[in-house]
Amino acid sequence: MAPNHPLGKDLLSAADLSAPDLIDVMARSRRMLQADGQGGTTSNSRKIVANLFFQRSTRTKLGFEVAALRLGHRSIDAYDPDRNRVGSSNGDNFPDHIRTIAQLADLLVIRHSEEGKCQEVARLAPVPVINGGNGSDEHPTQALIDLFCMLEMKGSIDNLSLAISCDSRARYAYSLLLLLKHMPPRRLTFCVDPEVHFSEKTQSALDVLADLGTQISIVHDLEECLDHDVLNIQTQDLTSKVKSTLDGGDLPSYAEKDPFVITADKILKAKSDIIILNPLPRQGELDSSCDSLPNARYFEQVKLSTYVRMAVLERMLSGIPWTGAAALARA
Ligand code: NCD
Repeated sequence: MAPNHPLGKDLLSAADLSAPDLIDVMARSRRMLQADGQGGTTSNSRKIVANLFFQRSTRTKLGFEVAALRLGHRSIDAYDPDRNRVGSSNGDNFPDHIRTIAQLADLLVIRHSEEGKCQEVARLAPVPVINGGNGSDEHPTQALIDLFCMLEMKGSIDNLSLAISCDSRARYAYSLLLLLKHMPPRRLTFCVDPEVHFSEKTQSALDVLADLGTQISIVHDLEECLDHDVLNIQTQDLTSKVKSTLDGGDLPSYAEKDPFVITADKILKAKSDIIILNPLPRQGELDSSCDSLPNARYFEQVKLSTYVRMAVLERMLSGIPWTGAAALARA
């Protein structure tokens, strides 16, 4: 089904952003930060942002609600897992639900455990669609947040040594690798469980960065990363995270392997001033002993996320298209 909508209206992949788009979002986020939420809207009319969270979420869902409110817009919950009738015999089927919400709202934010659902929503909806996490594929706004945090906390990316410790299939990490090609760091160390194989797409994103001059290393113990500027960490156990799918069930118990757990002891022993980011929620990878150290920046990351979401909403609600390769390929 070909989309009959303006080109570049959706943010489904980090590859929807061109370098100028990324620079624009970072500049808008900074403007929002400097105005600390008083930035105001670019439009006189109040818009409605509809959240469609088919997977559980705290920060992404509340974050878009808050960003909409701070811009003077409104947000609605367009999918209530307890009361919804979507897909049942007396309710709408999925496409009709989306077609309906797209007539009521000005922008949709969707999170779904199936990778293709956000593309389907983007085709069905004439209004802009943001991917708030699609299965184990991408999470482009989390990656924008991580990049903005690094810029705010460290000043620039090009001279940065960045360590990413997570399952090599993590969606936010893949989106971050895609964005980094527009702002390549000096050094990138990926700390991964050797038992998990790199997907082709992750490997090719790393190859792109290597071609751009980033010094890439793969390690299997995060103590080898403690001399870096930034540690972006999440659990190595995406399988059980995805299996529990955040759709309802609790995570099966999983003991994070010691080489992938960051603790205050490890940081103090290495006399490291690495800053720690985490998309949260944490599992076993981020020991609470870190929380009182100056290295811990993950709640400040939540604070900064609002400005990035405001920037993205401001841009998309004023109809500015994304001009990256993936957005153009959806023509
Ligand atoms: C993500 C989540 O919990 O789904 N966190 C977030 O959006 N802040 C992290 C992830 O994509 O795994």
